[in-house]
Amino acid sequence: MADDHRRSLAWLEERIAAGTAFRELAQAAVTHLRARYPDYDWVGIYMLEGAGLRLWAWDGPAATEHVEIPLDQGVCGYAASSGEVINVPDVNQDPRYLQCFLGTRAELVVPIATGGRIFGEIDIDSDRLGAFDEGDEAFVRAFCGRLAVAAERDALASRTPG
Ligand code: SME
Repeated sequence: MADDHRRSLAWLEERIAAGTAFRELAQAAVTHLRARYPDYDWVGIYMLEGAGLRLWAWDGPAATEHVEIPLDQGVCGYAASSGEVINVPDVNQDPRYLQCFLGTRAELVVPIATGGRIFGEIDIDSDRLGAFDEGDEAFVRAFCGRLAVAAERDALASRTPG
C-alpha cells in the first residue's frame, strides 16, 4: 500500500483508539480524505437508517440534494444492499447512477461493514474519468474496515443501559 494510504489509516486508527464518537469520526474522515487526495472531489458517508441511507457527513464544494437514498436507487443504494465495492469509471455509462454534480465523471462506493453487518458506506465522486484504481479500492476498503469497528462500538455502547 502507498505511503499516503498507510498514513491515512494510521491517522484514523489513532482517532478510533482515542474513543472518538462515530458521528465526529465520520466528519473528520470525509474532511481528511478530500483534503489529502486531489481526485476525491466530493466525499460523503451515508449510514443505513430504517429502509434507506442517510447522509451523515460530507466534504466538498457543494451540498448534495441526495441526503436520503432508498436502497433500490443509485450506485449508493446498490452498494449498501449488495455489500459490494462499486467502482464506476464513467458515471454516464452506468444506469444505476443518480446525478448529484454536473462535473462528476467517476464514483467509488465502499460499504462500511463488519461480520456481515452493513452500517453504511463511503461515497467518493471525482471529476476525473476513471479516477479510481485498485489502489484506491484497497485503501478505501481498509479505511471502511476501521470505520466499521468504530460504528459497531458506538452501536453497542448505545444499547448498554446507564
Ligand atoms: N451518485 C450517487 C448519489 C449520491 S451523490 O453522488 C453524492 C448514486 O448514484 O447513488
